[in-house]
Parts: sequence; structure tokens; C-alpha cells
Amino acid sequence: MRLNGKGQQSHRMAVLLAIFVLMTALIFYSSNSSEGLYSPFHAVTNNFVKSTNLKKWSGKDGYIPLYRNKSFTLRCQSCALVTSSSHVLGSGAGNEINRSECVIRMNDAPTIGYESDVGNRTTLRVVAHASVFRVVRRPNEFLHQTDNNSTIIFWGPPNKIGKDAKGTLYRLIQRVSMTYSNLSFFTITPSKMRKFDNLFQRETGRDRQKSHSWLSTGWFTMVIAIEVCDNIKVYGMVPPNHCGTKPGSKKVPYHYYKPRGPDECLMYTQNEGGRRGNHHRFITEKQVFRRWAKQYNISFTHPEW
Ligand SMILES: *[C@@H]1O[C@H](CO)[C@@H](O)[C@H](O)[C@H]1NC(C)=O
Ligand SMILES: *[C@@H]1O[C@H](CO)[C@@H](O)[C@H](O)[C@H]1NC(C)=O
Ligand SMILES: *[C@@H]1O[C@H](CO)[C@@H](O)[C@H](O)[C@H]1NC(C)=O
Ligand SMILES: *[C@@H]1O[C@H](CO)[C@@H](O)[C@H](O)[C@H]1NC(C)=O
Ligand SMILES: *[C@@H]1O[C@H](CO)[C@@H](O)[C@H](O)[C@H]1NC(C)=O
Ligand SMILES: *[C@@H]1O[C@H](CO)[C@@H](O)[C@H](O)[C@H]1NC(C)=O
Ligand SMILES: *[C@@H]1O[C@H](CO)[C@@H](O)[C@H](O)[C@H]1NC(C)=O
Repeated sequence: MRLNGKGQQSHRMAVLLAIFVLMTALIFYSSNSSEGLYSPFHAVTNNFVKSTNLKKWSGKDGYIPLYRNKSFTLRCQSCALVTSSSHVLGSGAGNEINRSECVIRMNDAPTIGYESDVGNRTTLRVVAHASVFRVVRRPNEFLHQTDNNSTIIFWGPPNKIGKDAKGTLYRLIQRVSMTYSNLSFFTITPSKMRKFDNLFQRETGRDRQKSHSWLSTGWFTMVIAIEVCDNIKVYGMVPPNHCGTKPGSKKVPYHYYKPRGPDECLMYTQNEGGRRGNHHRFITEKQVFRRWAKQYNISFTHPEW
């Protein structure tokens, strides 16, 4: 009798729990779909994650020099990773960033005119194939005003910037690297590009190509920063749950140097939910960064998380 009662009770509990879970899922779903845009990319992380040691995940030979016999030997104890997000505006972090041993930036994020918030040194700049023209057409900004011996890494599909591509883009970056020979220019090898894809799959459970995802420059930069730096302070990156939780949250431009550009959260949620064609998974990437932050010495500031 008692046993039976207990069994019944636990059965009822199970049913209640199931209903609760279902309701929560429904509420969550409808609160997302009420925004119309944000049905998130379904990363299936937790079951799939096999932790990768990013300090030595792909050997030393991932980077090819564009000119001369250089090897990518940059190592820093502490790095400032300055994002391109307009969350850096008003931070007044310029001096602090300048004082970091190494300063890492992305694409064509400028320093001139924004020094008080982003500093003016650049040790390493990671540039997407799609941003090459924007960087090289303003050499005064991106190629003159740099630290001693600063480094630029170009990433992109091997058929665009690979050595064997011999296309316009490859010739352009090769010419630039000869002209500015006091800087060091590298491209990412095809085999390392594949490793970046595999890493995405290991960390999210989704095949990058089959899930129509594009990796962002932020993804490449974070991984390279972990390889290079003992500890990293990230400026201007929002946490993964930032967009969508507060419907009325303040709109801020996606890039600090494009005040009239698209809203950051709109950019993130539209991409995350994008199905047709390829899309960035900015939010999923940040979920992975949150995990890496526990594994490596990474902290986030402006906003802090
Ligand atoms: C390039 O550098 C490596 C080691 O840094 C050296 O072993 C090799 O001989 C160099 N090659 C040329 C052509 O200078
Ligand atoms: C400059 O950086 C490149 C690439 O990291 C390295 O091969 C070279 O030895 C460095 N040169 C100096 C003078 O530090
Ligand atoms: C550091 O950043 C400040 C902006 O706060 C800038 O004015 C200054 O020139 C920078 N100093 C160095 C050494 O780069
Ligand atoms: C590097 O070389 C370029 C072109 O020769 C020059 O304009 C620039 O001032 C140099 N930068 C440094 C830090 O020496
Ligand atoms: C940063 O700014 C300071 C002065 O404000 C200047 O002396 C220094 O050369 C600048 N550094 C770079 C890398 O532009
Ligand atoms: C660049 O390197 C040279 C030689 O190592 C050094 O004299 C100079 O002070 C350095 N410049 C900067 C801005 O660090
Ligand atoms: C992590 O980085 C902070 C500075 O950002 C430093 O003070 C601390 O010692 C580092 N911890 C480890 C374990 O490296």
C-alpha cells in the first residue's frame, strides 16, 4: 500500500515535471518567436564537447609568412583583445589597453580618433579576406602606425588568399608585405583553416558547412589570442545572453567606427537565426568563449562578465 502510494506519487511528480519542462520550453520559445527574428542556432554543445587544448591544438605550422623567412613566434604574457563593438565607446580604456604587453585588434578597426577608448598600439591584427581592401587602402592608419614588428594575420578560404590561389587578393597582400617589410604578415594554412572548422564542430556539435555557418573574425582572433597569450582581457564583447533577454535594450552600432551601421543585437540575432544562405553564429561563438574563459585566463570588460 505504502509502496504503491509512493510509486503513484513519484509518477505524479514525473508528470508534473514533464509539464513544467514543456511549459518552460513553450514560454521560452514564444518569447523568442515573438521577436520574430531570434530562433537560435541549435548548438548541441554539452553532449559533444571534447575539450581541446588550444595551447597546443594544431602545432606550430599554422601560419605561412607572405614575405621572407619569418615564423609566427609572437608570445605575450598579457593581451588586450579590443573588439570592434561600439560597447568600447566611452570606456576610457585607452590608457589601460596601451599598457598591455600586446594589443590585438580585428579587421579595419581604427585607433585614430578613438584613442581614449581603444588606445593606439597594435601588436597583432587579424584580418578577414573580406576586409583586406579596407585595410590596405589606408596604409597610414593600419600599416605605418603600429608597434615595432607588429603582425598581421590574414584568414580566409584557401582559394581566396592561399598561396596556390595566385589570385588578385593573394598578390595584393604579398605586395603589401614586401612594401611594409618591418611588419610581419601571415596567412593561415589550408590545413589550419580546416582545423578551425573542426574546432567549431567539436565545440558546438554542428558541422560548420552543413549548418551553413560562417566563422567570424572574432572566432579566429579569440583562438589565436589563446595560443599567443597567457592571459587575455577582452574589451567590448557582450555575453552570449545579452541580446534577446531585454527586449527594450539600448541599440548600439555593431562597429564603433560606423555610428550609422546596423544595430549590434539585430546583427547577432538575425545571423544566429539565419537559415537560408550562410550566416555568422555570433551568439553561439560567445557561448563557446564563455566556456573557454573558465579554461583559460580570459576576462571580459565593458561590459564585465
Ligand atoms: C628559414 O628559417 C629556418 C629556421 O628559422 C632555417 O632553418 C632555414 O634555413 C631558413 N631558410 C632560409 C631560406 O633562410
Ligand atoms: C618579428 O616578428 C616575426 C614574426 O613573429 C619574427 O619572426 C621576427 O623574429 C621578429 N623580429 C624581431 C626583430 O623581433
Ligand atoms: C595611450 O592611449 C592614450 C589615450 O588614452 C594616448 O593618448 C596615448 O598616446 C597612448 N600612449 C601610447 C604610449 O601609446
Ligand atoms: C615601417 O616601414 C614603413 C615603410 O617603410 C614606414 O613608413 C614605417 O614608419 C615603419 N614603421 C616602423 C614602426 O618602423
Ligand atoms: C600613440 O600616441 C602617442 C602620443 O599620443 C604617440 O607618441 C605614439 O607614437 C602613438 N603610437 C602609435 C603606435 O601610434
Ligand atoms: C623599436 O625597436 C627599436 C630597436 O629594438 C627600439 O630602439 C625602439 O625604441 C622601439 N620602438 C618602440 C616604439 O617600441
Ligand atoms: C590571470 O590573469 C590575470 C590578469 O588578467 C593575472 O593577474 C592572473 O595572475 C592570471 N592567472 C593565471 C592563473 O595565470
